[in-house]
Amino acid sequence: MLHNLSIWPAEASSFAGNVDLLFIFLVVVTGAFTLLVFAMVAFFAIKYRQRPGHKAKQIEGSYALEATWTLIPFGIFMIMFVWGAVVYMNQVQPPANAMEVFVVGKQWMWKLEHPEGVREINTLHLPVGRDVRLTMISQDVIHSFYVPAFRVKQDVLPGRYTTLWFHPIKKGTFNLFCAEYCGTLHSGMIGSVVVMDPAEYQAWLAGNANQGTLASEGQKVFAELGCASCHRLDTQGRGPNLAGVYGKPVMLDNGTTVTADANYLRESILNPGAKIVAGFRPIMPTYNGIVSEDQMLSLLSYMRSLSPQQNTQAAATEPPAPPARTGRTQVPSAGNTKVK
Ligand code: CUA
Repeated sequence: MLHNLSIWPAEASSFAGNVDLLFIFLVVVTGAFTLLVFAMVAFFAIKYRQRPGHKAKQIEGSYALEATWTLIPFGIFMIMFVWGAVVYMNQVQPPANAMEVFVVGKQWMWKLEHPEGVREINTLHLPVGRDVRLTMISQDVIHSFYVPAFRVKQDVLPGRYTTLWFHPIKKGTFNLFCAEYCGTLHSGMIGSVVVMDPAEYQAWLAGNANQGTLASEGQKVFAELGCASCHRLDTQGRGPNLAGVYGKPVMLDNGTTVTADANYLRESILNPGAKIVAGFRPIMPTYNGIVSEDQMLSLLSYMRSLSPQQNTQAAATEPPAPPARTGRTQVPSAGNTKVK
């Protein structure tokens, strides 16, 4: 709406319109009340000042007046609160079938990984009109992934995955910034998001797909680290069978249940003793310092590819289904992994 003003970034995501409206509403309301208060202070100071023939005196309170200036602002604040909460809740709940891109922040660059295996530095290519979910982590200090044209910003933390989602509605190239001071070259930690036609995007993916998918790479890491010797795809392993675990509740030996999301799985690889799955013993060694953040993301992709439900979702929303993904109800065959 205001993108012709150079101080106003393009409105390139489905969030932009709402965020801008809310922002304008806040500026107008607070600006109007600031002016009103200033004007009344000046007016009363002049009108009721002490002067020859007029003595200044204390004016006692008025309940009606006080109730009015309490209830009206309360109503306005509730509008701000509810409106802001709706916009916020919409932004923190990624749709289930969003396409996923992994982001690794480090001093001082953005590494972006598509599930199809394509990797980029400081440039993120996306199709227009698709929900996109970013799963992000930092290799060192806190960074912040900020795309003004999408009206989204999310801290990227070491040691924990954070997510961000948006729905690009406009083709073009948009600024990507790091919005958290992260050292000497923080100001240089910039890049761009390139939003393309879906067909162009598929062509771009195909043109850059020289590696295997992220999941197939994870499968390689899984084999190289010998994970399969304990995490067998049957019930005989010394570690839990990982098929179908991703995103599902897991019963722990202390009786509690956790969801096997990216953060839980990451913790279980780096600090296996933290949460022990019911029925297993704490015998797994730590892989802290052995698995890089990139490898971790590929391992997570691999584990997700072992989960039939996730496969269904992925197959429905990501046309070029990579080979590691299997059908709806099919349990991944042993041929998918190295089972010793
Ligand atoms: Cu990364 Cu500032």
